[in-house]
Amino acid sequence: MTCRSSRALQQRLESLASAGVTDLPRSRAPALPTAVVEPLAEGRPSESGREAALEIIRAEVAACRRCEALACARTNTVFGAGSAAARLCFLGEAPGADEDVSGVPFVGRAGQLLTKIIEACTLSRDEVYILNVLKCRPPGNRQPSPEEVAKCREYFERQLQVVAPEFICCLGTTAAQALLHTTEPIGRLRGRWFQHGAAHVICTYHPSYLLRNPAAKRDVWDDMKLLMARMGVRL
Ligand code: URA
Repeated sequence: MTCRSSRALQQRLESLASAGVTDLPRSRAPALPTAVVEPLAEGRPSESGREAALEIIRAEVAACRRCEALACARTNTVFGAGSAAARLCFLGEAPGADEDVSGVPFVGRAGQLLTKIIEACTLSRDEVYILNVLKCRPPGNRQPSPEEVAKCREYFERQLQVVAPEFICCLGTTAAQALLHTTEPIGRLRGRWFQHGAAHVICTYHPSYLLRNPAAKRDVWDDMKLLMARMGVRL
């Protein structure tokens, strides 16, 4: 092995470890074949049709003033990112400071950890779709209020309707409780399967929680292994 490739391998292992990966298969499965990503069934909208539908919602969100205090404080609304035809959506809570500035979800420290988790699952940010319950940053990164969730619900529900993912992964309490209309705590929701329309839903801890509680990365990796197994993605 050359010096450069062993350094690359070491970096990859460090990235997996910081994403919470605790075990790897003995021999690496061949790179994920595109065949495991099932082709869109006939009659479903094309990716460009979905992108156009999302752009309409994006424009509505950009002009939204349903929560006047959030609208006054925001730099940008943060709509969503990734593939409009994704099989898997990650639903987070609300933009933080970095997302408010960039207009892109999950780009701060928690976002970088989410990216590592996605890559540990052998996927990329471009092939999943990432969105939040709230489209505006709550001041001081406080938790969204029930009123704010209620006012923003229409947007994330419509995004999910357009993307029509087979799988949704809720990141943290706010996302899980909002999507599933429940008040159960995340500790009891994680590791189980739910349904949202036609989509299979799994919940796990939010990456921000993992930054404060690295020991919980093991639980998230267990949840990701459940999710990838059901998606037919070999790790
Ligand atoms: N936390 C979230 O829930 N969403 C983001 O986009 C960033 C941090």
